[in-house]
Amino acid sequence: MTARFVRTRKEMEGRYEDVWVLVDEEDDVETWPHDAELDLVGKPAPRLDGTVRASGRAQFTVDVRLPGMLTAAVLRSPVAHGNVRSLDIDAALATPGVRAVIGPESVLSLTRSTPLLVAEPQYAGQPLAVVAADTSEAALAGVRALALELDVLPHVVDAREAVNEHRFTGDPADDSRGDAEAALAASEVTIELSVDTPAQLQVPLEPHAAVASWDGDSLTAWVSTQGMFSARDELAAAFGLRKDDIRVLTAFVGGGFGAKQGAGFEALAAAELARMTGRPVRLVNDRHAEMLDGGRRAATHQTVRLGAGRDGILTAIEAEAVVAMGQGGWVFPVLNPARTLYRCADVGALTFPAKTNLRAQNAFRAPGVMEGTAVFEQAIDELALALDLDPLELRRRNHVDVDQVSGLPYSSKQLLACYDRAAELAGWDRREELRAPQADGLLRGLGCATQIWWGGGGPPSHATVRLDSDGHAVVVTGIQDIGTGTLTGAQIVAAEELGLPLRHVRVVGGDTGPNVYGPVAGGSQTTPSVMPAVRSAAAKVRKTLLQLAGDVFEIAASDLEISNGRIRSHDGAIDADVTEVTGKLGSATIDGSGSRGPNPDGFVVNTFGCQIAQVAVDPGLGEVRVERLVAVHDVGRIVNPLTASSQIEGGVLQGLAFALTEELVIDPTTGVPVNGHLDDYKVPSIADVPEIVIDYPNLPDVNLPNVGSKGLGEPPIVPTAAAIANAFAHATGRRPAALPLTRARVLETLA
Ligand code: MOS
Repeated sequence: MTARFVRTRKEMEGRYEDVWVLVDEEDDVETWPHDAELDLVGKPAPRLDGTVRASGRAQFTVDVRLPGMLTAAVLRSPVAHGNVRSLDIDAALATPGVRAVIGPESVLSLTRSTPLLVAEPQYAGQPLAVVAADTSEAALAGVRALALELDVLPHVVDAREAVNEHRFTGDPADDSRGDAEAALAASEVTIELSVDTPAQLQVPLEPHAAVASWDGDSLTAWVSTQGMFSARDELAAAFGLRKDDIRVLTAFVGGGFGAKQGAGFEALAAAELARMTGRPVRLVNDRHAEMLDGGRRAATHQTVRLGAGRDGILTAIEAEAVVAMGQGGWVFPVLNPARTLYRCADVGALTFPAKTNLRAQNAFRAPGVMEGTAVFEQAIDELALALDLDPLELRRRNHVDVDQVSGLPYSSKQLLACYDRAAELAGWDRREELRAPQADGLLRGLGCATQIWWGGGGPPSHATVRLDSDGHAVVVTGIQDIGTGTLTGAQIVAAEELGLPLRHVRVVGGDTGPNVYGPVAGGSQTTPSVMPAVRSAAAKVRKTLLQLAGDVFEIAASDLEISNGRIRSHDGAIDADVTEVTGKLGSATIDGSGSRGPNPDGFVVNTFGCQIAQVAVDPGLGEVRVERLVAVHDVGRIVNPLTASSQIEGGVLQGLAFALTEELVIDPTTGVPVNGHLDDYKVPSIADVPEIVIDYPNLPDVNLPNVGSKGLGEPPIVPTAAAIANAFAHATGRRPAALPLTRARVLETLA
């Protein structure tokens, strides 16, 4: 390896950080060109773990059962703000079956630091104590024995009230450029739109969960997380241990959607209780706890004012967002779409992070950008209406080739192609016909929205590949497959590069043990970060293999090639199974390791797309049904169209629910969420799924390392709600001032 350190800018969900990265110059494999003839990349492949998943043999964290394992139960604050007056730890400890209790006074046993629990809860559902016991019944009995008494303190859960009282989690942000106010005043046409967006819960099917087990000072933790390496590092820091003392196992994850970025409270508390008792401890959120304390996309109040010339060219954008942050968290880039989607010199952008007595908001699939797009792209449609211009045409007229904030060009951008393809697939040209009175009495409309998001990935990300004498390869990655099919993507890329059949490549992930680092599965960064590392590692193995084949066949390695498990010479004289070479390895193996190089300087890497929704509104019942949704996204090269389409379907469904049904409702009097259960918090079911039509430009981003793929985890959720709301407005001529478009809200709007 030719090692070098380079300094590079790393992006994660719109946040940039300058980092040192270890680069191996031998990793310099050229990106497959767009017309490369690839055997496997770009062809649909079923998930390598599909059978294991479908047959129920996949072991999720919640399925882990160890001998002697204790179960933990959490006492949570019943009020939005309070002060613990008494907590009877002794009574809990005296409860039959209870083995350990931690409360607000407890410190971690190894470091005597980092209290996990508080005595002055700031939101309903905040953990106050945790009991570990032989059975879950005993643990719950221990929680009851704590006989919590607390004083109730005043709370604020309304974001506007918090702003009026100047309660912020940080300084309000001004990301303005130019003079939007003056530009707005001088504009020929102006519109203003205010829309409230709901607090939306991630609702992973597998709740936050951890199982911890110590062996001396070595900890093994099964954690339901998107970031097993962050979980490992957090546990190491909390317990003052070497990273290598900790092994995090994350074989299968039942969804995270942003809410599971590291160890989480669950792994820390389980590890502490396991330390105290010398027994493995399991802590799994029940559904209500998950919905109170698992996280959420914050509610926002947004106002957008737009100015344009009669020609449809934007002249001014003014956007404001109040974000109901809860107790903290990073402020999502809600106004990023307003700042970057279209060409405009004069942009006002003010974000107010309101501090409320709710859990700190955390990431949820395209955090900020999704809820910002949901409002901004509705405003764009209002402008189209005011200009009497086709909404897609208005978007085309304001298309940009360079990032409007930095002035840098995009590494690639196929947005215009996305518009064209989406319009064709959706039948955009029969848009007005759709509005004609229908035999079924429903009002129909078509609405579109544009998507922008990051998703370029970056270092660090590593992989190793080993080729055995039987001609089969093993890829070791640092990724946890949170349901996206990432491991299958790694299999495809490695098999392509190695020239082996898919089934001859096995992929190991979900384990920090090998210390082959992979990134948090978030920020749409996994595919663009991991696949190049996998390909680099495989390229080294391929090179060695061909050299050895040259020895065996007494021919120059450069005259040989390998595909589908056969080694052939260019002149056709040699055509041999790969095992004719690898078989001579005996017990030796061919090994290669690869790392992900930095993205090139001088570009902004974004993903783009367009979705078009067709809705049918029942004006009598207030029901909005999405009949068809067309999603066309530019994410560079598609590695596996099958799992890519799964990503789009999942994103679209979550966006659809944000538009139509999902909203965490908080009782203003008590500050307690009133629908923290799956029966009254409405996630979509199979009956809500529309026809989803998917396509991609599928052109590699040649400025990205060696595979040319961008991420697809988040892009599909970004424009869905706006497209649906725009279709609703098209169908009905009305635009509600808030999402979701519940039946009550629709009936009010149409009345
Ligand atoms: Mo992030 S919301 O974990 O992709």
